[in-house]
Amino acid sequence: MLKVVDLSKVYNGNVVLRGVNLTVEGFVGIYGPNGSGKSTLLKIIAGIEKPSCGRVIFEGEEITGIRAEEVARMGISMVFQIPRPFKNLSVVENIAAAFLIRKNYSEALKLAYKMCGFLGVENLAEEKAAKLSQGELRLLEIGRALATEPKLLLLDEPFSGLDVENTKRVAKILRDVKKKGVDAIVTAHRMKLLREIVDRCYEMRGGRIAED
Ligand SMILES: Nc1ncnc2c1ncn2[C@@H]1O[C@H](COP(=O)(O)OP(=O)(O)OP(=O)(O)O)[C@@H](O)[C@H]1O
Ligand SMILES: [Mg+2]
Repeated sequence: MLKVVDLSKVYNGNVVLRGVNLTVEGFVGIYGPNGSGKSTLLKIIAGIEKPSCGRVIFEGEEITGIRAEEVARMGISMVFQIPRPFKNLSVVENIAAAFLIRKNYSEALKLAYKMCGFLGVENLAEEKAAKLSQGELRLLEIGRALATEPKLLLLDEPFSGLDVENTKRVAKILRDVKKKGVDAIVTAHRMKLLREIVDRCYEMRGGRIAED
């Protein structure tokens, strides 16, 4: 379980998060317009940005302001709004690299091929990441995050820029992940699709969050 307590963030005098309180157990959706603070909230939880005040507590332990690598080691993994894979590695190598955190090389490669199957991208396994379409990249990023075997997944707009087919595919993958007992925060601009996947949905507006 993750708890965010009275979290605020100010960038150069601009208040981006205003006393956000949030408890995450199961899948939680956050929707809101551009600039409302969704990515900032996820980045603070992931240890990529530091909060101006407030606390982040994961499994009873305060993790506020600790380094991103340390947060990842504790079992929190983020899928970024803008994909950032190793461009010169293939799909399967990219996923294997993430498995290497916990496995040896041959095991990591075997699990990476299995992950390609789970994602439905077996046909792209040997393709260089640089050649992938936006939708394919999104699937790869989800696979890389899952390969770290997270307890909590932070998915920043996993549906943006996807066509109907890939939207359905990502929704199915997330439902399968949910069944495995992984917790998640999923952000989006609109709530329609989110509601079909998450247990609870919140609206974010001007750095404030409200259950709807
Ligand atoms: N590194 C930064 N430095 C200064 N301002 C920032 C920084 N990152 C974000 N902001 C500002 O914080 C506000 C919230 O940004 P954030 O990216 O969290 O919004 P968002 O809800 O994720 O938006 P979108 O839907 O466009 O992804 C914006 O006004 C943005 O300009
Ligand atoms: Mg964002």
